[in-house]
Amino acid sequence: MTSPTGGADLRQLSDAALREHIAGELTRARLRSTALTDAVDEPELIAQHSPLMSPLVWDYAHIANQEEIWLVRDVGGQEAVRADIDQMYDAFKNSRAERPSLPLLSPAQTRSYVSQVREKVLDVLDRAPLNVSRLTDSGFAFGMVVQHEQQHDETMLATHQLRRCGPPLQAPLPGPADTTALAGQALIPAGEFTMGTSTEAWALDNERPAHTVHVDAFYLDTTPVTNGDYQRFIDSGGYDQRRWWTAPGWAHRQRAGLTAPLFWSRDDSGSWWRHCFGNLIPVQDDEPVVHVCLYEAQAYAAWAGRRLPTEIEWEKAARWDPVSQRSRRYPWGDENPTPERANLGQRHLRPAPAGSYPAGASAYGVRQLIGDVWEWTSSTFAAYAGFEVFPYAEYSKVFFGEDYHVLRGGSFGTDQAACRATFRNWDYPIRRQIFAGFRTARDAEPS
Ligand code: AVJ
Ligand code: FE
Repeated sequence: MTSPTGGADLRQLSDAALREHIAGELTRARLRSTALTDAVDEPELIAQHSPLMSPLVWDYAHIANQEEIWLVRDVGGQEAVRADIDQMYDAFKNSRAERPSLPLLSPAQTRSYVSQVREKVLDVLDRAPLNVSRLTDSGFAFGMVVQHEQQHDETMLATHQLRRCGPPLQAPLPGPADTTALAGQALIPAGEFTMGTSTEAWALDNERPAHTVHVDAFYLDTTPVTNGDYQRFIDSGGYDQRRWWTAPGWAHRQRAGLTAPLFWSRDDSGSWWRHCFGNLIPVQDDEPVVHVCLYEAQAYAAWAGRRLPTEIEWEKAARWDPVSQRSRRYPWGDENPTPERANLGQRHLRPAPAGSYPAGASAYGVRQLIGDVWEWTSSTFAAYAGFEVFPYAEYSKVFFGEDYHVLRGGSFGTDQAACRATFRNWDYPIRRQIFAGFRTARDAEPS
C-alpha cells in the first residue's frame, strides 16, 4: 500500500485524503502487529524469550495503551478505556526484565483491548478536527502512534528471532544483487548540507530542526559490510587482537566472550551457520552482516584500516543532492520506498545481498542506506541545535547523552512509516539483538 501522495507532502492533502492516508497507515501497522502475535500460541506470547525483551503480549497491549493515551484521550478528548493499566504498560515504570511478573492482560484480554481502542480511534479520526494544534497538524499524533506501533513491531520481530521454541518464521528470499560496475566506495566531497528536517510532517522531535552542517571530504562504502568481509576479520584472529578494539570494546569483548556475531555457530568442517527466525541457515558471504554490536563494528573497521561514519556523514551521503543543492527525503529522491528501492517492512526476513537495489542508490551512488540493516555510527545520541521536546520527553530527550550510539537507515524489519533518511535510532553499544550491521568510512584528502 503506498501513500496516496506517492510520498509528497502530507500538508498538501485535502482533509479527506489526509484522513484516508492515516486510516491506511493505522491498518497497515495493525496487520503487522496481528501477524506477529498470531504467529505463536498463548504460552509463547506470554513467555519472556530474553531478559532484553518484553513478552510479546506486553508489547501488544503497550501499543494499544499508547494509542489510547494519545489518540482517544488527548486528541479525542474521550474518557479512558482502561486507565487502570497505564502503569503496567508504561515502559519507564517497569523494566523489561520485570514485565513478565506483572499481572498482564491475557492474550485474549489484550486482543479485545487492542480492538476496543482501535474502534474508538477510528471514530476520533472520523470526527476530530485536524490542523488545529501542533499535535493534530497533518495528523501528527496519528503519525506518531503509527510509527510507535511499527517500532514495536520491529522489536517484536527481534523477540521472534530470540525465540527458541514454537514455529519458525518464513518469508521469501531477496533476489541476487547485480554489482557490475559498482565501486567499493564513494567519495563525498567537502561542503555543506542540510541535516534534519523542519518540513517532514511526521518527523519525530529528534529529527528537527533542519540545520546546515559542513562536512569534510570522506569516502563511504557503497554497501554494508558483508558476512564474507566479516569472516575474514574473524579468520585473521580479529576477536583475539586487542589492538583493533577500543578500551570499552575490548573490556566488553572479554567479559561477554564475544567470538562471532550473535546467532552464529561453526560446524565441524569450519563452515558458519546462523539461526534466523527458527531456521538454521548457512552464513551467506554476500549478505550484509547483522547482529553485531558497536564494538564489533568498530573493531572490524579498525582492522580494515577504516572507521565508522559519523551520523552527520551518513546523512549527507544518504540525502544530499549536489546537483540541486538540496537534501532529499530518501537516498533516491522524495518518493516513498518501493520493493525496487529498499528491503523494508519484513518482506524478507534477512538483508539482501550487498549491492542490491541500484534504484535506491543515493546521489553519490551509495546503496542500501535505507533498509537491510540498521547501521551503527560513531556518533552518540544528541539533540540538534534548536531541538524542542515534542510531544513528550520520554521519546528522545531522556536518552540524549553518551550512553547511546545512533543507528541509521532501518532494517529489513523496519516499516517505511518508521524509516526515512532523517530518522534516528539509538541503542547501547553492546546491543546485538537488533537488526544492526554497519558500513565503513575513511577521511579523504582535501582537494
Ligand atoms: C527509538 C527504537 C530506540 O524501541 O526503545 C518505542 C522506540 N519509543 N516506544 C525503543 C520507542 C517508545 C525506541 N527506539
Ligand atoms: Fe513504546
